[in-house]
Amino acid sequence: MKLILISLFFLVLLVVPSFQEKVTPLEYPNEKQYDEKWKNDEMGTNGQTIGQVGCLMSSVSNAIAGHNILIDGETSNPDTLNQFLRANDGYTADSGLRHYVVVEVNSTLIEYVGAEDSMTRSEIIEALQTKTKVLLPKVGNPHWVLLTGYDTEDESIYYVSDPGYAKETTTVDAISEWRIYTMDFQGPTPTPEPTPEPSPVRPVGYTHFDQCDDAWGDEIMGDDQHTICDYGDFMTSLAMALNGHNIKYDDKDITPKTFNGFLQQNEGYSDGYVVWHSVAASIDEENVKYVGKKESLTRDEVIEYLSNKTYGLIMDTEDGFYLCDGYDEALTEIYYVLNPSNKLLQSVPTSTADSWRVYYIEMLKGDDDDDDETTSNSFLIKDLNTRVVATFFALLIFIVFVSL
Ligand SMILES: *[C@@H]1O[C@H](CO)[C@@H](O)[C@H](O)[C@H]1NC(C)=O
Ligand SMILES: *[C@@H]1O[C@H](CO)[C@@H](O)[C@H](O)[C@H]1NC(C)=O
Repeated sequence: MKLILISLFFLVLLVVPSFQEKVTPLEYPNEKQYDEKWKNDEMGTNGQTIGQVGCLMSSVSNAIAGHNILIDGETSNPDTLNQFLRANDGYTADSGLRHYVVVEVNSTLIEYVGAEDSMTRSEIIEALQTKTKVLLPKVGNPHWVLLTGYDTEDESIYYVSDPGYAKETTTVDAISEWRIYTMDFQGPTPTPEPTPEPSPVRPVGYTHFDQCDDAWGDEIMGDDQHTICDYGDFMTSLAMALNGHNIKYDDKDITPKTFNGFLQQNEGYSDGYVVWHSVAASIDEENVKYVGKKESLTRDEVIEYLSNKTYGLIMDTEDGFYLCDGYDEALTEIYYVLNPSNKLLQSVPTSTADSWRVYYIEMLKGDDDDDDETTSNSFLIKDLNTRVVATFFALLIFIVFVSL
């Protein structure tokens, strides 16, 4: 009986990935408006820069590049499109984009369709599938991105190429209006390279903590200017690492709340929110040691650290700190991460790390580890969507009935 349930359980786990699927009919680049190469370049005549207000222009440049359309013979990016627009009176006085000037980049291939207040899900999916309709939703106040895909299961999100943030998705609710173009391909329609099936390896199976969780987000860190929600990305990443290795504080599991409490009591913060590594490691002197800051790690080193399960690898990126928890055997250009400020961002290019903070953390036996498999799958289990959970329980009940 137990065996049936266990095998059934793993069967259900295997089925999970097929339920949730990201569909991006056309792969777009994701040049960032804040790239050093152009972020300080001015747009209109009011002195504002691409880094400050270039989100819509940068999104349009990513769309043009996705269709291989050249700008004066050069690849489209925020720099080349900005230069074209400046040379052709493409901005209003306050750096607003003149869509009819964008069209002049190549008027046989680009057409500006117009603005829409709202679009239905089926309209959006249909438009994406044409590969020539370009959808630019407004997702902030004001912030514009390029829509790249949808999710077959989760109807509350869309995938985006966001020039301003590391985010790869937007929620449906965040979208307030649209700008729409059609762009044909310059040259043949690209057939996307078949990407190999991902084969993730996440040896420890950490639990994700959201730094803005109601249970601790508003708590003060070193001084009253800094809350965990606003500044606790490193502290939360390290709390995830300690928790995953079953390090305890006062016999309790470590969370951002308990870990912050420990750091507060032991003067673990400098400058209000910067964690002193020596204090952090003193939470369990025998089992935790700060190895140091590494400017770079090779993929082989990352794999060795992760496979040994006795390290916490914290990645310093331009969007904050993440806990790196895995690599992929097939996709060698990515690492898996747990991002304390965004649960959806789960993989990043290997080049994302500006530097690393490495902790040695002994893997202690947890009180609730019956066996290793349940531990390593705990992250997955938390991610199961309701439909899968429902299927699982339905099958479970069925099996119980049959065996009675
Ligand atoms: C526009 O695209 C067409 C079709 O690919 C190409 O022949 C033409 O040279 C392009 N025009 C400009 C201005 O780049
Ligand atoms: C990982 O484990 C292997 C085998 O136990 C050991 O030889 C190696 O030094 C460890 N690597 C690190 C980085 O600790």
